[in-house]
Amino acid sequence: MSLLIKNGTVVNAERSWTADVLCEGGKIIAIENRLSSSDADTVLDARHCFVMPGGIDPHTHMQLPFMGTVASDDFFTGTAAAIAGGTTMIIDFVIPSPGERLLDAYHKWRAWAEKSCCDYSFHVAVTWWDESVYADMGTLVQDWGVNSFKHFMAYKGAIMADDGVLVQSFPRSLELGALPTVHAENGELVDYLQKLLRKKGITGPEGHPQSRPPKVEGEAAQRVIQIAGILGVPLYLVHNSAIDSVSAIAQARQRGQRVFGECLTQHLLIDESVYYDKDWRRAAAHVMSPPFRPKVHQEALWDALAGGVLQTTATDHCCFCSEQKEMGHTDFTKIPNGTAGVEDRMAVLWHHGVNTGRLTATDFVALTSTNAAKIFNIYPRKGAVQIGADADLVVWDPKRKKVISAETQHQQVDFNVFEGMEVEGSPLYTVSNGRLVYDDGKVLAQAGTGRYVSRPPFPPYLVAQQRYNDRHPPQKVQRAAATIGWEG
Ligand code: URP
Ligand code: ZN
Ligand code: ZN
Repeated sequence: MSLLIKNGTVVNAERSWTADVLCEGGKIIAIENRLSSSDADTVLDARHCFVMPGGIDPHTHMQLPFMGTVASDDFFTGTAAAIAGGTTMIIDFVIPSPGERLLDAYHKWRAWAEKSCCDYSFHVAVTWWDESVYADMGTLVQDWGVNSFKHFMAYKGAIMADDGVLVQSFPRSLELGALPTVHAENGELVDYLQKLLRKKGITGPEGHPQSRPPKVEGEAAQRVIQIAGILGVPLYLVHNSAIDSVSAIAQARQRGQRVFGECLTQHLLIDESVYYDKDWRRAAAHVMSPPFRPKVHQEALWDALAGGVLQTTATDHCCFCSEQKEMGHTDFTKIPNGTAGVEDRMAVLWHHGVNTGRLTATDFVALTSTNAAKIFNIYPRKGAVQIGADADLVVWDPKRKKVISAETQHQQVDFNVFEGMEVEGSPLYTVSNGRLVYDDGKVLAQAGTGRYVSRPPFPPYLVAQQRYNDRHPPQKVQRAAATIGWEG
């Protein structure tokens, strides 16, 4: 089965140029001018369009069991929605319950994901610690293609990893060539503030941002960056929403620490006023962690994306319908946390990023695909329009307009945080594994056509960070302290 994309402008993270792209056997096999249509079974016309690597969303939660319910998009509906938005790969999360073997949880998620219609991979969360976790991390990296482990610094009493777990898990990740990732919010503070607010009689969705202010995120980001620095471990922080965490990342990068940061499209566009909506249903629909922030944080996020402080965009796609959100009607701490976005990420980022001049088209490719492929070690199989790469492509029409709405979306949820937003720039075609899976408004994907993507470990010389103690040996620090008249 061959597929030819003609007359488009190829855009990679490094450059763009005019060329036709020929795919066969699921791979890109030629990129040249004036390839003959008779060479292909399917020919797509990309005149006036960009031909880009399919999006990679490195942070989704399809059918996640969470807070007493299960996220409403499963691996089929969620990946179909991804494809409709130009995303051809997701990296989802295996989240073992405390005490559950990591390998058991991994195989459970692998079975759930078999119905996916785009390629997928898994980060595995470390939610507790004993020697079986140490052993299973090794098996997951060596035998099952996992090269990143997730740590939730929040959700006390459920999946939270305290400092003790981080300090065990980070060096283990490093010796395996895997990348630790974190959800940075101080879970003890969130728990304390939630109790305090409830005592004061605050039960509505406004309690959500009040119990998770930006400093709660900033403190956790600062702390985990210092922990990783002392241990000499690289680090990836998911869903940065606030100036406080972004500046912690910027400072770390400035002093040479290997820290990567992700940002969600939702945090770029939505502010915390949504939690004060008089309509409880609408306010609750926006409950996710970290919460939406005062507007000033949004500009800082855009600057951080444009300036290279943050490298990836994601959605944390984790949807709950109104009736599920109702679980927290009398107590905001019981509202299932999560919002949708996998279908809208690319169009929203294009419209508000490229059309405004904040980002170039090549930046867009880097931020939606290439950087995630590099950071999670699947480049250039993914993230590049290149001979030999997987034929995961999006033909992007920069003039195509649409109004985002829950009424017309493919996401299986009854709400859309971008409801009514008009965007200019959307996929005309999406190609997954060399097959046309989205054709001008129609999702053609079939359940089970997505493949599991193994991600190899990183060779240690690519990730190991010089440890703080090696860069600043204790004698040297003492000598410096003596020079400035401070003996400690
Ligand atoms: O509110 C969110 N983000 N729900 C999903 C779990 C997480 O924290 O990523
Ligand atoms: Zn999170
Ligand atoms: Zn998440």
